[in-house]
Amino acid sequence: MTAYVLVSRSAEFETRLRGLLGERLSVVPGEFLTFGPEAVMDRVPEDTRVALLGPVLNYEETKGLVEALTARHRGLGVIVVREQRSDLEDWVDELELHAVLSPEASDETTMGLLDRLAMWLIANGRADEHDFDAPLALEIDDMPFIESARLDAESALVSVATVSDSNDVEVATDPDVPEWEFPPIQAGSPTDAIAVIAPKGGQGKTTIAINLATGLAEVAPNSVVLVDADLQFGDITAALSLSPTRTIVDAVDEAATDELVLKTTLTHHEDGFFVVASAPSPELGDRVSPLSLARLIDQLRASFRYVVVDTTPGLGEHTLIALEHVTDAIFVTNMGVPSLRAMRTEFEILTKLGLMPSNRHIVVNQTDKNSGLSIRDVENIIGAPIDVEVPKSSAVLLASNRGVPLIHDDVRDPAARAIRSIVLRIAPEAFPKRSKIQRRRRSNEPE
Ligand SMILES: Nc1ncnc2c1ncn2[C@@H]1O[C@H](COP(=O)(O)OP(=O)(O)OP(=O)(O)O)[C@@H](O)[C@H]1O
Ligand SMILES: [Mg+2]
Repeated sequence: MTAYVLVSRSAEFETRLRGLLGERLSVVPGEFLTFGPEAVMDRVPEDTRVALLGPVLNYEETKGLVEALTARHRGLGVIVVREQRSDLEDWVDELELHAVLSPEASDETTMGLLDRLAMWLIANGRADEHDFDAPLALEIDDMPFIESARLDAESALVSVATVSDSNDVEVATDPDVPEWEFPPIQAGSPTDAIAVIAPKGGQGKTTIAINLATGLAEVAPNSVVLVDADLQFGDITAALSLSPTRTIVDAVDEAATDELVLKTTLTHHEDGFFVVASAPSPELGDRVSPLSLARLIDQLRASFRYVVVDTTPGLGEHTLIALEHVTDAIFVTNMGVPSLRAMRTEFEILTKLGLMPSNRHIVVNQTDKNSGLSIRDVENIIGAPIDVEVPKSSAVLLASNRGVPLIHDDVRDPAARAIRSIVLRIAPEAFPKRSKIQRRRRSNEPE
């Protein structure tokens, strides 16, 4: 029997508890709480008798879980795993808990507490002896169980809080609903995937990718995902002041072939889009294979209206395979002659390889009247017409340093306006009346 469930965001604690309980433990990663307590509930086995909540769950999450769990599993024993903090007494007063366990408690203390609680549940008719497979450490007569033990921050790593003698479980109030949700994508409806690429570094790919995702999220709120496929040195979460708990390494993991698991690896931005964060280190980023990146893009396209992919400079294997799995490519260059020449070479290579996506958008970034080149010169060097010119603007760096998308930070800024015109090329419905841009056919639409 899996008598114990752990809902936690600590892999370390999970490993330790698994070592202690083995097969008797099921684990639900705390990331599922992003979708509200019900997403966790669906993964809690029927035969659960004791729930351990934490560490690294906040008060609201724990409260929602306690309410939902005790409503569904009558008589459940509930343990909060949390450090002794000054606010812990409030938790104990306000939540229906049986015990509080420090994540730092020794294995012996932890098992002692679990065994005592199991015995108490059995003694009070809340569980059957056979519900807890392994032999319990304490005899029931040994246990002066628990009327109302005091939380004592000085003396104990583990404290037992009030245990109700009543078998009645209060009817839970509605659990908090998440403030955002994933709008469903109808099977077969068109989805666009846009790769932002450049032959050289520092041209403005990330700036454009972030602001494109932000603009598209106005058209399709919470149905846009921005993938940081700059696998070694991705900086999207830094530029957006996000603190991801999961990254692209988790998103390409075998477990994430399950759609719901994949969604737990995403980081939500308040402007209505999601981010697949880059790997936490270049070494881990290296482990993401080109094929798994391609699979990830395909998988995200099944769930999101728009998938925006920021890439590593140049035409590495990952970028090449990404190009095969997108509908649009945005090519970014500045006005420097070496960058422009490299762009021309990139076009030639992609055309030769047959990898030029059906919708190509050429963006010249950081345009500057004093560059010594006119736009006509630029087009001559690249060998193709320019679609969008984004002027050099100090507002770009300012927004990035503030961790805010430029198009929401300074709407009147000329660079922000230019980037909005890139959004229009992908989603003309954003401003249909003002748009004079003919939308080109997407590769996945019928001719
Ligand atoms: N239009 C602009 N005006 C002024 N500064 C800009 C503009 N676009 C980008 N920048 C600045 O140029 C720098 C590089 O931009 P960004 O990080 O977007 O480029 P990148 O192509 O993603 O770089 P990398 O190849 O390192 O990933 C940043 O400091 C950014 O703030
Ligand atoms: Mg970048």
